[in-house]
Amino acid sequence: SRGGVLEGRHVIITSGPTHEPIDPIRYLANRSSGKQGFELATAAAELGARVTLITGPVSLSEPAGVEIVRIKTAAEMLEAVKAALPADIAVFAAAVADWRVETIQTEKIKKSEKTGAPTLSLTENPDILKMIARPGPERPRLVIGFAAETQNVLTHAQAKLKSKRADWIVANDVSPSSGVMGGENNTVHLITASGVESWPEMSKAKVARKLMERAAEQLHAKRTA
Ligand code: C5P
Repeated sequence: SRGGVLEGRHVIITSGPTHEPIDPIRYLANRSSGKQGFELATAAAELGARVTLITGPVSLSEPAGVEIVRIKTAAEMLEAVKAALPADIAVFAAAVADWRVETIQTEKIKKSEKTGAPTLSLTENPDILKMIARPGPERPRLVIGFAAETQNVLTHAQAKLKSKRADWIVANDVSPSSGVMGGENNTVHLITASGVESWPEMSKAKVARKLMERAAEQLHAKRTA
């Protein structure tokens, strides 16, 4: 026993991008590096939690003492999260693709002078956070979402807290000028029902440590309340 503040807790973390196939060799994706999610998994494990890290395709080394589940699509990520329940804390740090291609072609789409460029028909992916945060017996006690925004960060994040029924939203500015996407540092705002806390710029590892410590305090407060 490591005797940390998350000893005996199960923490689920989603991380990275999702890849949504177009045909056997092409996919839609985004620029998420998975760094913040991997740091969260590391921090939770260091604090004594049992950690399930569900990650899209990333090139990061695996954190020690963490169960890692590798998936590609949003649909696979949702199934992996459901399979990992129950949990005390769930942190949704993944940059899940909002859309997937409606009909995945089983053969490579051929370039054709006759038909020109193909049109991709997109359909909405499941909102994993929203589904898991729905009230019910399997809902983790603390559900934490991330909100990566490029403008009106706080307004959008506060709206997300409500619409997704998350307990907390960690909001960050991911404008290209912020250097957050793929970078080592993050500047975040913690949004809860009682207000906004703006944290100074720190490494993604420090954000992770601070967030998981706060989560442990919150669970403790809830239990002894
Ligand atoms: O993309 P969006 O801004 O809605 O993401 C906010 C939060 O919702 C993030 O925590 C993200 O991981 C989660 N999310 C999700 N499934 C989606 C879209 C977003 O879990 N399909």
